[in-house]
Amino acid sequence: MRPFLLIFACIRLGQLESGVDSYVAAVYEHTVIVNPEPRVPLSRLDALRHVQRNLDMLEEQAALAALQGAQILVFPEDGIHGFNYTRSSIYGYLETVPDPQQESWNPCEEPHRHNNTEVLQRLSCMARRYNLYLVANMADLQPCPLKTDPSTACPSDGRWQFNTNVVFSSDGLLVARYHKHNLYFEESFNTPPRAEIVTFETPFAGKFGLIICFDILFKHPTVTLVEKDVRQLIFPTAWMNQLPLLDSIQFQWAFSMGANVTLLAANVRNDRLGMTGSGIYTPSSATYHHAKRGDPEEGRLLVARVPVLDPLWGRQNTAVDTTASTPSLAATAAYCHTDSCADPPPPTYPTFTSSMMHDPFKFVLLKESGGELTVCDGTFCCHLQYKWTAHDKQKELYALGAFSGTHTVNGRYAVQVCAVVRCADTEASSCGQEVEEAESKMDFLLEGRFETRHVYPAVLASRLVLEKPEQLETTADGRVAMKHSSTTRGLVTASLYGRRYHLDDE
Ligand SMILES: *[C@@H]1O[C@H](CO)[C@@H](O)[C@H](O)[C@H]1NC(C)=O
Ligand SMILES: *[C@@H]1O[C@H](CO)[C@@H](O)[C@H](O)[C@H]1NC(C)=O
Ligand SMILES: *[C@@H]1O[C@H](CO)[C@@H](O)[C@H](O)[C@H]1NC(C)=O
Repeated sequence: MRPFLLIFACIRLGQLESGVDSYVAAVYEHTVIVNPEPRVPLSRLDALRHVQRNLDMLEEQAALAALQGAQILVFPEDGIHGFNYTRSSIYGYLETVPDPQQESWNPCEEPHRHNNTEVLQRLSCMARRYNLYLVANMADLQPCPLKTDPSTACPSDGRWQFNTNVVFSSDGLLVARYHKHNLYFEESFNTPPRAEIVTFETPFAGKFGLIICFDILFKHPTVTLVEKDVRQLIFPTAWMNQLPLLDSIQFQWAFSMGANVTLLAANVRNDRLGMTGSGIYTPSSATYHHAKRGDPEEGRLLVARVPVLDPLWGRQNTAVDTTASTPSLAATAAYCHTDSCADPPPPTYPTFTSSMMHDPFKFVLLKESGGELTVCDGTFCCHLQYKWTAHDKQKELYALGAFSGTHTVNGRYAVQVCAVVRCADTEASSCGQEVEEAESKMDFLLEGRFETRHVYPAVLASRLVLEKPEQLETTADGRVAMKHSSTTRGLVTASLYGRRYHLDDE
């Protein structure tokens, strides 16, 4: 057995205010033992032999989390069975998860009430033994009536198969079940016939909402939960990293800050698929882990004490007139302060188009030792004031990019994005490509006027280190400004990632 009680020194940003209710949360980034032949059907017995190996590892971590006082522990998506199954090859792994709204069941206390529920029983006993709330992800089979009601769209084999989060209370009771709504190329699973909004209550922190992986980019259920005053979200994921804008940890904290919520994010670790990056995020703090390619493929347990966020804040906030708010960050510079954001000063520097995240961004280069730049994609404009504090022009090229449109590769969603990126080399055509390292540092103010309230800010420094933006400002007219002074490491990406959910279906 490996050095068991090593408490990892993970990166923690931010402080906990005193006098606020708080709780201890844990997430485990698990190097899932995969089925090497996921497309070949296997017996229930063989499926159970496989999942027990993962469950043994997860149980070790539950013990460690409990020793550190964790009250809630989150395991990743696909962390028990692995991925890449077909509809039929996953069959041996499926269990029917009863609806906790319909029946109260403690699988550990009453294992024989339902057949074929070994995974549920094991998880329930884990929650009970270590006296913590446990969130895990598994595969659920729900039989459906083939003929009675054709409108239910029951699949032709008479069963739904869902990618599912299950939650057990600290005495082992099954308290919540959530079926993933936004599937990401998962042929083994169905989209549930109705988008589910699932929450559960805890005695230590009130309400939590459940989402899974790709869900985080969409209105349902994620933003719907937030709009219902759910301020603590649980996010099992199997996230394939994509720089410069959607690395796991980058978007996790960006979402937490942009939506003003706590996010408990547990990713799978798998180098071949580019999966790593987990954390415990509040709008003011981040405790996270991001492995580097080539690091030993080990799991990582993160434990942090975080404040309970006031569920009534959202309601108060929507009642408040935000135009009467804080003094402006950029009183001198921003053209956006006038009412004519759509009418920016004509750029005096050449704009070029380069692909970033498969989208045609408009870019301008940061050629000077500092100054101001504007770049527009149509009428959507991004503005930057910058001043280098460290920069070798011969070595590192940077650009300011803007994109307003619908992303269509590997998912379809409408975005407006402003981003400062380090280009992959010193050619403009490399701007927008993936880069992980940088040495240049700058003071900057990045802003845009967005046609959405949903803008997620991030500052990503060299070698996948997150920085907390020094100052963020949002005004009622959609202007979002992010100010930051010299990153402790080189700057890789500074971004304002806006989602225009209302356009997704057009
Ligand atoms: C799934 O399998 C296909 C081929 O069988 C492979 O190309 C792909 O990378 C696999 N994806 C995952 C997530 O393992
Ligand atoms: C479980 O399976 C056994 C054997 O197939 C069957 O006799 C029993 O009725 C089942 N129990 C339940 C609760 O479905
Ligand atoms: C986030 O919520 C807290 C209350 O939990 C509130 O005080 C704060 O102003 C909110 N932040 C923003 C940017 O709205």
